[in-house]
Order: sequence, then C-alpha cells, then structure tokens
Amino acid sequence: MKSFLEIALEAAEKAGRIIKENFHKKKEIDYKGRINLVTNVDKEAEIAVLDTIKKYYPKHNILTEETEHKQDASQTFRWIIDPLDGTTNYVHGFPFVCVSIALQKNEESIVGVVYNPILDELFYAEKGKGCFRNQVPISVSDNTDFSKSLLATGFPYDMLNEERNNIDYFSRIIKKCRGIRRPGAAALDMCYVACGIFDGYWELELFPWDTAAGLIIVEQAGGKVTKFDGSEFSIFDKEIAVSNGRIHREMLRVLGIRN
Ligand code: IPD
Ligand code: CA
Ligand code: CA
Repeated sequence: MKSFLEIALEAAEKAGRIIKENFHKKKEIDYKGRINLVTNVDKEAEIAVLDTIKKYYPKHNILTEETEHKQDASQTFRWIIDPLDGTTNYVHGFPFVCVSIALQKNEESIVGVVYNPILDELFYAEKGKGCFRNQVPISVSDNTDFSKSLLATGFPYDMLNEERNNIDYFSRIIKKCRGIRRPGAAALDMCYVACGIFDGYWELELFPWDTAAGLIIVEQAGGKVTKFDGSEFSIFDKEIAVSNGRIHREMLRVLGIRN
C-alpha cells in the first residue's frame, strides 16, 4: 500500500501532466466573478486528483475548490485540494501555477504537496520529516533584518467590494522592506518562503485549499504561520502571515500600524 505522501505525489503528478499539456493550448474560460476565472483545465485537474485519492481512500473527506463534497463528521482524514492555483497566471501564460494537495488528520495538516509542472518544481512535506524541493531538503531564509526582506502578497478577487483589499497593508509594508512581489499563486508563494526565496508573505481572503499544503511545507521548513495578531492560524481564517520566523514580529508590527 502506498503512503499518504506517495498518494498525494501520484495525484499531483497526474494533475501536473494535465496542467502542463494544456499550458499553451486555448482554454475554455468561465467567470466566477469579475476577475475570478476558472478553466476546463482547473476542472480536469481536479477530477484527476479526486480519482487518484478515491481509488485508495473512498471514505476520506474531501475539500476542493471546484466541487462541493459532503463531509462525514466521523471521518478523521480530510484531503484539501486546489487543482490549479494561479488560474489567472495560467490563462495568460505566466508560468507561476501549481496543484496543491494537503492531507489533514483531525484538522492538522500531516502531508503537503505543491507542484509547478511548468517550472518543474515539486515541494512536499510530511509532519516531522522535513521539507523538500525536488528531493533536496529546504529551509527558510536566515535573514533577521526586515529592511532587507523580499516579501510576497496577493490581492482578493473581490477588490472593489472588499474593505480589506490589502492596498493599505501593501503601502505600509513596501516602505519598510526591500521589495514585494505579487506572483499570483498563494500555495507557491508559501513554498517560496519555505525554500528561502521570500522572507515573508501575507494575504487576505484566502480559502483552505490555498493554504493547507503550504502550511505544513512552511512549518516543516522552519517557518512561522500566524494571523496578523500573532495568534495561531487555521486554514479557515481570512488573514495569513508567513515568514522565516526571524522577521515575523517586525512584519506583524508593520501590518498592524494603522494609518
Ligand atoms: C488565487 C491565487 C492568488 C491569490 C488569490 C487566490 P486561484 O487562487 O492563489 O495568488 O491572490 O486570492 O484565490 O483562484 O488561482 O486558485
Ligand atoms: Ca487558489
Ligand atoms: Ca484554483
């Protein structure tokens, strides 16, 4: 029998193949909101992941972006899946996209896999077993100086109606750090903190499938994930602050300064 990690890797590999094969092809695009897109590839990748998981564990709970699944309260395991994170990037041919798969046991992430098949970057972690990019162990950066930090963030799709649209946070942080990137795939943004490219990352209005795999990957790489007030983050929370741990306090302090 395959381990949970091996099953997650098999599912990510199948979805990754679909994402890669279709990258340069014309996609069918539907709108979930003004700028919130979904393509035929999101849906096909999701089916590939679901089929793989259900083949091994038909009774496990599933939480996934593109389809609703009934939850069995007596079930201890739950798979959380974003079949294609970075759909806007995907539609425009910007190669920062991934499939993100996490497994939780009693609400705690125990396996995380994030795979960008275009750039061939595979991140994975298991609870207590460290964190890897393409088989090589990774860890967060050792930078302690917030003014020398490279950070990432993102903005909610519902920019126009959402009061917390991240513009205020962005303008506060940009004045205090070295630079900010907006790569456009939350799961990969977190992995880039895990491997030390970014020193930190924050975002609002994300969903469990955006953060569940990244959460265990960052934690296993030695990083820190909290809410903006420093308290424990749950994947159902609507704000996330991620860092190498060393700049965390300063990042939260700057996020917390009111205009
Ligand atoms: C989106 C990406 C993006 C983030 C959005 C997410 P999707 O996910 O992760 O970086 O800013 O809030 O919804 O829609 O491409 O799966
Ligand atoms: Ca997503
Ligand atoms: Ca998605």
